Amino acid sequence: MILNIAMDGPVGAGKSSIADAAARALGILHLDTGAMYRALGLTALERGIDLQDEAAVTTLMRAIDVTVAHDANGQRTLVDGRDVTGLIRTPEVSMAASAVGRYAGVRREMVALQQRLAATTPMLVDGRDICLRVLPDAPVKIYLTASAEARARRRYLEMVEKGDTTPFETVLVDVIARDKQDMNREVDPLRPTEDAVILDTTEMDFDQSVQAVLRIVKEKYHE
Ligand code: DC
Repeated sequence: MILNIAMDGPVGAGKSSIADAAARALGILHLDTGAMYRALGLTALERGIDLQDEAAVTTLMRAIDVTVAHDANGQRTLVDGRDVTGLIRTPEVSMAASAVGRYAGVRREMVALQQRLAATTPMLVDGRDICLRVLPDAPVKIYLTASAEARARRRYLEMVEKGDTTPFETVLVDVIARDKQDMNREVDPLRPTEDAVILDTTEMDFDQSVQAVLRIVKEKYHE
């Protein structure tokens, strides 16, 4: 059996960067499934597809080829062979990703794709439905979270570093709006599964969070 680690959690819990560092420490790949929803959201925006039109978005998902590749810098995300890694981190694409992720047909395709990737390679997979749908049998399941304020604060500081002048209040409103959309959608809403370890990083810095993940992995593998 391939040893995979499942990690879910809300927006801005630092999941991607914590998952990245933990996967490196463990010597396995990190699959960022949010990037795949972002790639679909970006493509829908680029092609002028109405994000409220479930049939059109689902048809688009079936028509395009979303793939990932890993190199020394981590994951690169590709749509029909085009590298979109640098285009998928804008607030507009964030909301679009959350919007396209509401649709059952989209989720079915994405889950199948992610399961195929994880079936052949040991990976730390992060997302919103990994413990429940993508890797229901994973030996280690972690739900990474933090208060909305702490998550917005981290995202805000990241944006400031990139020269973005969006005010903190706007970032907080965006975090709360995406939480609502991800936690209240009809298909596989975001919530911790019973067998997941809940890791609240509100009071932890980045290194402490990574160490906490590594401790959970170690404990679970020894069970
Ligand atoms: O983790 P992220 O912020 O890059 O994810 C972007 C959006 O994609 C998020 O708001 C919800 C959606 N998503 C999802 O529905 N299922 C996943 N496994 C990963 C992300």
